[in-house]
Amino acid sequence: MNMNLTKKILAAHLAKPSDMVPGEEIFLKVDQTLTHDINAVMTYLAFEAIGLDRTQVETSVSYLDHNLLYLDNKTPDDHIYLQSVAKRYGVYVSRPGNGICHAVQVARFGAPGKLSMGGDSHTPHGGAIGMLCIGVGGMDVATAMTGVPMRLKMPQVIKVNLTGHLKPGCNAKEVILEMLRRVGIKGGLGKVFEYVGPGAATLTVNERATISNMGAEMGATTSIFPADEQVRKFLKAQKREADFVELAADEGCSYDGEMELNLSELVPLCACPHQPDNVIPLKDVEKKKVQQVFIGSCTNASYSDIAKAALVFQGRHVHEDVSCTCGISSKQIYLQLMKDGYLEMLLNAGVRLLELACGPCCAIGQSPATKGVAVRTSNRNFKGRAGNPTAEIYLVNPESAAATAIMGTFASAEEILGDEIVKLADIQEPEEYPVDDSMIVAPLSPEEAREVEVVRGPNIKPLPVPDAPEQHLKVQISLKTVDNITTDDITPASAEFSSMRSNIPLMSQYCYHRYDPSFAERARQMGQSIIIGGENYGQGSSREHAAINPMYLGVKAVIAKSIARIHKGNLLNHGIIPMIFADPADYDRMDIEDTLEIHNLLDQMQTREVEITDVTKDFTFKARLELSDSELEVISCGGQLRYLKRQLEEMGR
Ligand code: F3S
Repeated sequence: MNMNLTKKILAAHLAKPSDMVPGEEIFLKVDQTLTHDINAVMTYLAFEAIGLDRTQVETSVSYLDHNLLYLDNKTPDDHIYLQSVAKRYGVYVSRPGNGICHAVQVARFGAPGKLSMGGDSHTPHGGAIGMLCIGVGGMDVATAMTGVPMRLKMPQVIKVNLTGHLKPGCNAKEVILEMLRRVGIKGGLGKVFEYVGPGAATLTVNERATISNMGAEMGATTSIFPADEQVRKFLKAQKREADFVELAADEGCSYDGEMELNLSELVPLCACPHQPDNVIPLKDVEKKKVQQVFIGSCTNASYSDIAKAALVFQGRHVHEDVSCTCGISSKQIYLQLMKDGYLEMLLNAGVRLLELACGPCCAIGQSPATKGVAVRTSNRNFKGRAGNPTAEIYLVNPESAAATAIMGTFASAEEILGDEIVKLADIQEPEEYPVDDSMIVAPLSPEEAREVEVVRGPNIKPLPVPDAPEQHLKVQISLKTVDNITTDDITPASAEFSSMRSNIPLMSQYCYHRYDPSFAERARQMGQSIIIGGENYGQGSSREHAAINPMYLGVKAVIAKSIARIHKGNLLNHGIIPMIFADPADYDRMDIEDTLEIHNLLDQMQTREVEITDVTKDFTFKARLELSDSELEVISCGGQLRYLKRQLEEMGR
């Protein structure tokens, strides 16, 4: 049967036979996992609790890349734990200073046709080389590492036929911003976007990565490009040509939907506050004063991205009222840019070079000023994402960001370079990157690994494990949220909070801190409670702390109009029942502190529909459980850790 590329890769990884009908659950054998420092402690604590001797996948990599600000003992405690636990269980470590997880993973570990699960929502970055890469919660990564097949709802595969070619001044960022403009932040739910066509063939791996990375902003399961000549060139430049295999969709294969996008028609775009799909042409953005420009992040800090920004800056200066920083995505890119003179251009322009880390993208340093206008090349512009909820974040490409930094207000590269803009088209990706894996610590042999002692500093607290649900639940509503609550709203980013992620008793005190500072104490006082959510509850990152902290505070269920995919998985994994209003109008009928009562909860859950009484307002309503059989088992036994242990026992492991 002729298959699209997504189906081909999924078919090659099926652990149980399946017709792969969209919406049906499939079970997959995973090749690679990745984690990063601000989420990973929980993942490895869970893996330790499972009790296996070693990771069971081909390659597991632990990146120390997000938080390199050692403000106190917490982050170094985390990093030392992560390095030692990796050694103990056969996991690679990419040390601080080697680069951002997705950039390094695609360059040094990824390979066409592989299936990867990463504890970060931008894991789909690796789709740039014909690999199927899915962002999941940390507990799912721990599960993948056990070798137990991973469940996934078979996605719809959408063909995106790219034609034409990008004009100088337009970047792959325009492609994904245009996609976001068209389909919106929920338009990718349950879908894989498979990019094909003559336009796709013109895009380099790094350009493709910008697109597949930000497919996460559409809520997509993942995005993928074929493994073609561009991928061969990229792997050759990484001295890994041997890992190349040509992979593409079969001629005449079918898709579940199709889109057309002509690259030649794109103009510089901008995602305005506070959602990445709030996209308009850059020329239409109000010319207000810009306070901060950040050029960097996994999304848009490749060699050509930074080189193009540097060319815009060449011989010019950052506006005196603008703070402009640049975070390059990996050591090898930094070295190449240095060799080719681009870092000098940036420094001469007054750009501040940051560490090779996520940093400002997740509010670890470089917070904008009060009500500051921040222009960034990263992928998210949610309120508070940059560390200051009063700031406005605009997302643009690196060339536009450089022009904006020079002008002090929104500007495109063309406004700075005029006819000289054509020189941006001359920038090519390096034919050979300065490859040096000395910052990657390889796993020990199983015998050596068994001798390793895992180091637990004071910041490493035990993993909280939820109880299984009981038949009768009578609890109050501890919070009622608006639509589009992000994981940043639930567990804020920033250096201060990131370093608390290994310490749930402490971090849970700040749960919903910015959205409703009284929530944590109220939930704690209630003992057990339910959260009421609007549409797209839990959108954004894969941050499982957005489930762990509420669970720790006694939240037993979330009843929302809809719940974002990764967050729903995290709720399940951590024992919070995700429910959807059968009639969204019921959302309006209840208030915070109402008492809700559910009889025969476990029995009702089996029917996927639960009847709930609002005792305070005296009415009854229904909520659905949009769960597969195995998901239902997970939640019925109190979350993924208990479920997994049971499964492994049954398998005799
Ligand atoms: Fe890091 Fe931001 Fe990417 S936090 S992994 S640079 S989305």
